[in-house]
Amino acid sequence: MRIAIGSDHRGTKLRARIVELLRRWGQEVIDVGTQESGPIDYPDVAQQVARRVSAGDADRGILICGTGLGMAIVANKYPGVRAAPCHDELTAELSRRHNDLNVLCLSGDMLKDSPIDGLIKVWLSTPFEGGRHARRVRKIAELERHNGRM
Ligand code: RB5
Repeated sequence: MRIAIGSDHRGTKLRARIVELLRRWGQEVIDVGTQESGPIDYPDVAQQVARRVSAGDADRGILICGTGLGMAIVANKYPGVRAAPCHDELTAELSRRHNDLNVLCLSGDMLKDSPIDGLIKVWLSTPFEGGRHARRVRKIAELERHNGRM
């Protein structure tokens, strides 16, 4: 799987751990940084990951800032991107089963020293359930198309 990953300054520590994990698991990682040592604005990073997922240049994205919230707000501006913060294995699993989440947003502040392997593994391996959830996800895509014409 091609996975684009990025963080602002509040997510660099967690990002480094996740990049290492993903490479160890044989995933193709597109690390967009930040490589800056100082503060960086999260929209500048989120757009680099979301653009790739939206265009099909990456299969999934992972974005990390202090809370995961700002990254999700920005990423969801891109067509076809479904981004949300997940905090544990349960939210990661349900985000895949029900929402077909393709951009995982994480809190660098809350998770930087916590075990992360389980959450990432669950999020990568859990399939979308389809069925009634596919109908709901289709409605999101219809809203995107409709709002694009407004
Ligand atoms: C940066 O201070 C902080 O606002 C950012 O990392 C993120 O938490 C925003 O949602």
